[in-house]
Amino acid sequence: MPRYHLTTFGCQMNAHDSERMHGLLGSLGYEEAPDRDGADLILFNTCTIRGSADERFMGNLGEAKRIKRERPDVVVAVGGCWAQSQKESVFRDFPFVDIAFGPGEVNRLGELLARERIQAVGAFTFDGRFSGDLPSLRERPHQAWVQISVGCNCVCSYCIVPSVRGRESSRPVEGVLDEVHRQAADGVVEVTLLGQNVNSYGRDLPASSRASFADLLAQVAAVPGIERVRYTSPHPKDIRDDVIAVHRDVAEVCPHIHLPAQSGSTRVLKAMRRTYDRDRYLALVDRIRDAVPDIALTTDLIVGFPGETDEDFADTLSLVQTVGYDGAYTFVYSPRPGTEAGESMDDDVAPEVKSERIAALIEVVQQTARGRLARHVGSVAPVLVEGVSRTDDSRMSGRTGHNVTVNFSGDATPGSIVPVAIEASTSTTLAGTLAAVAQPAGAA
Ligand code: SAH
Ligand code: SF4
Ligand code: F3S
Repeated sequence: MPRYHLTTFGCQMNAHDSERMHGLLGSLGYEEAPDRDGADLILFNTCTIRGSADERFMGNLGEAKRIKRERPDVVVAVGGCWAQSQKESVFRDFPFVDIAFGPGEVNRLGELLARERIQAVGAFTFDGRFSGDLPSLRERPHQAWVQISVGCNCVCSYCIVPSVRGRESSRPVEGVLDEVHRQAADGVVEVTLLGQNVNSYGRDLPASSRASFADLLAQVAAVPGIERVRYTSPHPKDIRDDVIAVHRDVAEVCPHIHLPAQSGSTRVLKAMRRTYDRDRYLALVDRIRDAVPDIALTTDLIVGFPGETDEDFADTLSLVQTVGYDGAYTFVYSPRPGTEAGESMDDDVAPEVKSERIAALIEVVQQTARGRLARHVGSVAPVLVEGVSRTDDSRMSGRTGHNVTVNFSGDATPGSIVPVAIEASTSTTLAGTLAAVAQPAGAA
């Protein structure tokens, strides 16, 4: 049996594409090798969102080059967003790479491999077809990702995603529901709907089969066996009241929204072309909290965008405190080729200023999150059990509806939702003990 080794970089979309690569390669008769040295096919699923993503990948690609020199029969394949961004030059700059394919071409991997075995082909076309219906090999048996759209129609000035993932295209409702039904039959209890901008879902579908994101959420939640529904990421500009109402009214839809703000400064938001300002973002947060007071809100924030002043940055810090995020991913701005900001805005915030700002931001994010997570101490939370804790094998680990990891003592079956008495918290995790499950009245 031929053996492959796959390394994944990037976001959940890429991780999910990798699940499909695993599934596809398995169905083609490949088995997984524990390391690259033992593989006949060295495969990378790449990311190019920031310069640091490119650098990390380059380090790994160097090892593939060495192996290819030692064993020229090895096939080196590079998929994902970096591959797409380099489609003009990849075979010239990295002659040891045999196959390159973009994120929309996972479904062509089999064909590309077959061609590679027969003859060395120099270049391929990137046709960006939708590959949502391929088999996938999930990492966790009870949790699954479901792709609902590909691409992004936004024009955030810093972002390379639209150029590597293309225009937004929604997957028809039936395809999504079929997959969720199959997953539920296979033991999945929690699904996460995936897209670059999930809540613009459906606008491109034909009128006869159109569904809004809120409709889709409710329909997925109604699939028998599905107990939890999550999604990522929404764009604040597209969260309508019907989505908020679904959070309020449908028990399976988790009390958590990842709401990328990017900046707290209206001036910077405008230059980023986010299409909302600070006040509109805060008004949205209020509408969400009016409907679901205890909801968890998390976000993405960028520091050091071109022209960001101390005052702009202070607005980002105060946004974190005003909203009271349960968590946040924080990034240092990185100019990307081909983006509006990368091409036409001066990357003028000094590196040491960027470092100071990211450190200060992380501090405030942690303080805020610690304060937020502490509210769970003393409560009993429903926890979807994932397995043995990674940090302490005498304990179990799982997640609350608010998407916080809980390490707890007591015996529980992975895939079940159990009550856990929360006893302690940090800025990112909770700890507790399995609570006695209430006995129905009359039971001995
Ligand atoms: N589609 C998603 C995620 C996009 S990438 C969304 O819009 O939420 C994830 C995050 O990476 C973004 O939210 C942004 O915070 C960050 N990011 C994107 N481009 C970046 C860049 N050039 N420099 C630094 N961070 C960036
Ligand atoms: Fe990038 Fe903006 Fe699209 Fe997110 S919404 S993928 S940040 S362009
Ligand atoms: Fe990276 Fe592509 Fe995701 S650039 S963040 S893997 S969409």
